[in-house]
Amino acid sequence: MNRFLDLDDLSDSALDAVLARARRLEHSPVTDDLRGRTVGLLFLNPSVRTLASMQAGVTQLGGQTFVVHSGAGSWKLETRDGVVMDGEAAEHVREAIPVLAQYCDLLAVRCFAEGRDLATDLSDRLIATMADLCPKPFVSLESSLAHPCQALGDYKTLDDLDIPRRGGRFVLSWAWHPKALAFAVPASTLAMAARRGMEVTVLRPDGFDLPDPVMARARATAARSGGSITVTSDRRVAMEGAHVLYAKSWAAPGHYGRPQDEASLRAPLKGMWCVDEPWFASARPDARFMHCLPVRRNVKVTDAVLDGPRSVVVRQAGNRLHAQKALLVQMLGREVVR
Ligand code: CP
Repeated sequence: MNRFLDLDDLSDSALDAVLARARRLEHSPVTDDLRGRTVGLLFLNPSVRTLASMQAGVTQLGGQTFVVHSGAGSWKLETRDGVVMDGEAAEHVREAIPVLAQYCDLLAVRCFAEGRDLATDLSDRLIATMADLCPKPFVSLESSLAHPCQALGDYKTLDDLDIPRRGGRFVLSWAWHPKALAFAVPASTLAMAARRGMEVTVLRPDGFDLPDPVMARARATAARSGGSITVTSDRRVAMEGAHVLYAKSWAAPGHYGRPQDEASLRAPLKGMWCVDEPWFASARPDARFMHCLPVRRNVKVTDAVLDGPRSVVVRQAGNRLHAQKALLVQMLGREVVR
C-alpha cells in the first residue's frame, strides 16, 4: 500500500494485520522497524494529537521525523491551482510536496476543508492531488472528507472495549459548536462503524443531515458488512440499547460556505445539543462516550460525561499512537500484508 487516504485503502486482511500489530505495539512499544527511515510531517492546519503521536510513534519505531507547519516558521503554502500568488502564500504545494518528498521515506499531510464550496470539499480532490505529487508513500493526517488515522484508532478502541462488531449499536450524534465544522471526522466515523457491521444511527437536528454522498457510501458499506444505517432526530429512539455515543459537530449542507445563514439554523440548538448524562437514559448501562478531541467542555459535552466513567476520549487519543505506528510499519516495514 503506497497511500493511505481513507480507511478503505486497507483491505480487510491488511486492516486485521494493522490492528493486530497495533495491539502488539501497545504492549511492546519500542522496535527498530523504521530504523534509518525518515517520516516528513506537513501540517497546513493545527494539531495536538496527530502531530505528537506521529512524532512519538516514529521515534519509538527507531526512525526520525521532520515537521513543517505551513505559514508558522516556514513559508505559507498555496494549495489552489491557477491563482496569482500575490498574497500571503510564498510557495505552492506543487513544488513543496515533491521537494519535501526528497527528504523522507514517507510524507504525511494534514489539509482541512476550505469550507467554501460543498462540491469541492466533498470531492476530497486536494489530498489526492498532493498524494499524486508525492513520489513516496503518502498518509493523510486529515483531509476535507476523511480522517483515516482517527478512524483506525477508533476501530481499535471499539475492539479494546469489546464492543461487538456485528450487532453493536453505535450512535453518531451531532453536537452544538459555535462554528460550522467539516465532514471529515463524521464521514470517517460513519464509514468505520458501518465497515465493522454495526447498527449505526445518525442523530441530528433537522437541517444537519450528512451530505448525500457520505450517507450513500456508508449505506453501501453497511450493506456489504451486514450492518445498518438509520437517521433520526429523536434522541431517546437513537440511544435505545446503544453501546456507544460518538459526538461530533458538522456543518449544515444546505448552508455550506455561508456561515451567517447557517448561524440562524444553529443558534437555537445551543444547549439542547450538548451531550449530558440524561442522554444515556435508554442506552446500555455501560454505554461509552467517544469524541476525537479537541472538544469544547460544556458546549459539546458536559464535564459530568467527560469526567465520568463513560468517557473513553483519552483512550481514543492513545490508540492514535498505536494504530499509526502499525500503519507506518505496514507501509514502510519489511513485512507487508495485502
Ligand atoms: N483528533 C485529532 O486529530 O486531534 P488533533 O486535531 O489535535 O490532531
